[in-house]
Amino acid sequence: MRADIRINGERLWDSLMHMAKIGATPKGGVKRLTLTDLDREARDLFVSWCKAAGLAVSVDGVGNIFARRAGRNDALPPVLAGSHLDTQPSGGRFDGCYGVMAALEVARTLNDQGIQTEAPFEVAMWTNEEGSRFLPVMGASGAFARVHTVAEILAARDLDGVSFGAALTAIGYAGTTPVGGRALGAYFEAHIEQGPLLENTGNTIGIVTGALGQRWFDVTARGMDAHAGPTPMHLRRDALYGATFLIQEVNRLAKVTEHSRGTVGMLVNRPNSRNVVPGETMFSIDFRDTDVSGLDRMEQGMRAAATRIAAEHGLDIDICQTVFFPPCHFDAGCVAAVRAGAARLGYRHMEIVSGAGHDAVYIARVAPTAMIFVPCEGGISHNESEYATPEDVAAGCNVLLQAVLAHAG
Ligand code: GLV
Ligand code: MN
Ligand code: MN
Repeated sequence: MRADIRINGERLWDSLMHMAKIGATPKGGVKRLTLTDLDREARDLFVSWCKAAGLAVSVDGVGNIFARRAGRNDALPPVLAGSHLDTQPSGGRFDGCYGVMAALEVARTLNDQGIQTEAPFEVAMWTNEEGSRFLPVMGASGAFARVHTVAEILAARDLDGVSFGAALTAIGYAGTTPVGGRALGAYFEAHIEQGPLLENTGNTIGIVTGALGQRWFDVTARGMDAHAGPTPMHLRRDALYGATFLIQEVNRLAKVTEHSRGTVGMLVNRPNSRNVVPGETMFSIDFRDTDVSGLDRMEQGMRAAATRIAAEHGLDIDICQTVFFPPCHFDAGCVAAVRAGAARLGYRHMEIVSGAGHDAVYIARVAPTAMIFVPCEGGISHNESEYATPEDVAAGCNVLLQAVLAHAG
């Protein structure tokens, strides 16, 4: 294995900054929701770069893109590296895009060095990691790993009623390659940490050993539309007012232990008129924990509170689970390759459990998998001000290169 080669940090940074122009926001972030015209633009640019690097590009039936560099023994299962190009509505320049650009930079570096790996190497771009426009989150890597069926993914609808399948076709990325069902040698994903640990401890590389489990719900509280003036307070069935008590409870339940998280991030209020008592309020709940028992505890507490609140406020409350995956533990061999790469290159490193979900969580079910984290300023992510330094971004990519070489031969 060639331990002496290094990626081109300047080229990696230029690619990241170039990609960040697609959907750039006035505050310096990126809004590039999945399967929009901006997503198409980012994909087109990514594909053009892959082709320029001599990679063979294929697209599967849920829009995942694979850019392949042949191996000496091309029949071997490929080693993959990648992430996602979609962002949150107020996203940053690094979440997801970094992992895709880092994987591409690995391929470009192998080209520069004239290295042919034993196994093929593929750069992967997974569709709709964020789960912001369409549920479920990490939907297309989930389909690849057979956690979801392709039909389920294509049928998902956004808040305007547009289906995933229609949006995918509209941007021209409904591919013909079958979704998943093929052997992978390994999968590596580089990502910004999205939390404060690396920065606070002065480490450059996070050796990611796994990720929190998650359970999401869509909750709909139904009461009755009523006039804001003539309707006395005691006669109201105010869905939004009732929802606020459940939102409080989600936060209270998550604060019971240090490793629990509870978030209500999305709310749709109807009819959403200043002088109408709201008759229907829909909102999301995102619970995360290191243990399934923690997820169960929060779910039970939330359901009990919902029953109580429904009775107190004259509401019907429907609770629908939309996402569940247990805590994930990455492959010991892949984690060791990341650790060895960081140590070989002399980067300060620490083990870390991801609080965020990643495509790696699902790919870990069908391939040996690990992740590499780099620090992000103030631990801030899912925010337009997200920032990582060029040096840290290059360091993580160098570790990715080492891990890929260790597995691809
Ligand atoms: C993915 O961005 C997540 O919500 O963790
Ligand atoms: Mn991400
Ligand atoms: Mn994200």
